[in-house]
Amino acid sequence: MDDQPALRAFTEADLPFLQRIVTDPQALGSFVWPGFKDAQARCRRWEKDGYIGTDTAALAVVLPDDSLVGIASWEANNRGGAAGGCYEIGLALLPGYRGRGLGTAAQRLLVEHLFTYTLAHRVEAQTDADNIAEHKALERIGFRQEGVLRGARFRRGMWQDMVIYAILRDDFLPPDS
Ligand SMILES: CC(C)(COP(=O)(O)OP(=O)(O)OC[C@H]1O[C@@H](n2cnc3c(N)ncnc32)[C@H](O)[C@@H]1OP(=O)(O)O)[C@@H](O)C(=O)NCCC(=O)NCCS
Repeated sequence: MDDQPALRAFTEADLPFLQRIVTDPQALGSFVWPGFKDAQARCRRWEKDGYIGTDTAALAVVLPDDSLVGIASWEANNRGGAAGGCYEIGLALLPGYRGRGLGTAAQRLLVEHLFTYTLAHRVEAQTDADNIAEHKALERIGFRQEGVLRGARFRRGMWQDMVIYAILRDDFLPPDS
């Protein structure tokens, strides 16, 4: 991969991107597009806390020249354990930036961030059963598929099966280890 991505906080200059991804169905694609919703919600969220909170957060995925190519997010997903022990991540790239390793690299950075700066024991990801690129990206990082959530999410005109993946802190190896 020529361009290693980085994660950074969204800035005011990124507000057009945050608006685009809720107004343009093509921007993040059919696996992510939920239908038309409040077009200002993401911008309002940025104005509130820069899109970084204790339980939910989103970061910009950028290339070395700082071009903004996607969004990475996490939310607390405590399963009866201690607060902050489990997070669910999400990642979506603009169409022209897919299929060249950026999604794998950005999700690896996201997992590394959570294991470095939070007490997370477990990081989860859910994706459509037919989102093969996302399955492969997660598996390359070390996530394991744990099961199928049948008919769990309404997208693309029908209830979709989702698969759940997770990685535990002890499973995670940074890329250069
Ligand atoms: C899913 C997504 C994040 C993956 O990132 P990416 O940069 O496109 O994927 P990568 O280039 O890192 O490739 C990851 C693996 O998937 C494979 N792959 C990439 N695109 C593929 C495709 N369209 N179909 C099948 N496999 C594909 C790659 O060959 C690679 O496999 P490998 O690890 O065996 O070499 C990205 O495609 C995307 O943003 N898609 C739209 C939004 C989305 O679906 N997000 C996930 C929602 S949960």
